[in-house]
Amino acid sequence: MGSSELLAKIKHGGNIPKHIAIIMDGNGRWAENRKLPRTEGHRAGMKAVREVIEGSMEAGVEVLTLFAFSKENWKRPRLETDALMGLLRLYIRKEKRKLQEKGVEVHVLGDLTDVGKNTREAISEIVDETSGGGNLRLNLMLSYSGRDDVVQACRVFMEEVLQGELELADLNEEVLSHRLFTSGIPDPDLLIRTSGEFRVSNFMLWQIAYTELSIVDTLWPEFSREQLFEVISDYQLRDRRFGMISGQDDLDIGRIN
Ligand code: FPP
Repeated sequence: MGSSELLAKIKHGGNIPKHIAIIMDGNGRWAENRKLPRTEGHRAGMKAVREVIEGSMEAGVEVLTLFAFSKENWKRPRLETDALMGLLRLYIRKEKRKLQEKGVEVHVLGDLTDVGKNTREAISEIVDETSGGGNLRLNLMLSYSGRDDVVQACRVFMEEVLQGELELADLNEEVLSHRLFTSGIPDPDLLIRTSGEFRVSNFMLWQIAYTELSIVDTLWPEFSREQLFEVISDYQLRDRRFGMISGQDDLDIGRIN
């Protein structure tokens, strides 16, 4: 089935996931298979980023979250971390205007303390200039780890307790959720991981409690919008129960955000 038929099929199916999160894996292997440096795999991965943004907009997805760089990725060779930050700046420079025109609101979430000044400036620009875009919210997760997200949320909460704004007894799931980097965003309905690895790699650990998982074999640079539509089509057949039993109609109970 071609891309437009698949799109028509998922649109007809209704129940498009509101929030899709993606672990973009396999850039290194894609490059190694072609005897190219790993950084060429990351460069090729930018095309797939464009594909999923456009595909998400066509399908009517509201939030797209991409795992661009984990906190653990800082342990890779300096050459590779520099290349990844350089690619992010290049991406911002090349795509900022187009994203703004398409109404994509970009957010960059994570612990940016170790991110260089030039990159942080580029991030502020794209965040400011795309602010208010109402067609798609794009979260680029940068220097992000799921455990760190929970720890920093606890820190924020404890600070509020120390300042006398909240009491210890106020802590509950909703209060903690609102102090995560993803505060105010619904939890992902669907988490896609490319390159066939069955791991969540410290990504959005809190937020994916009831998320449907989809592992595809494709290496990230080859992931296309057709495949995104195929994964959405498969998602539409899932029976999401949120800890309840099939057919109960108050399925929002298990959701936190
Ligand atoms: C994982 O592949 C991918 C990354 C660590 C980075 C993802 C980055 C991009 C797609 C490039 C640009 C992105 C943006 C948002 C501008 P891997 O290196 O772990 O692959 P491997 O498992 O095959 O080694």
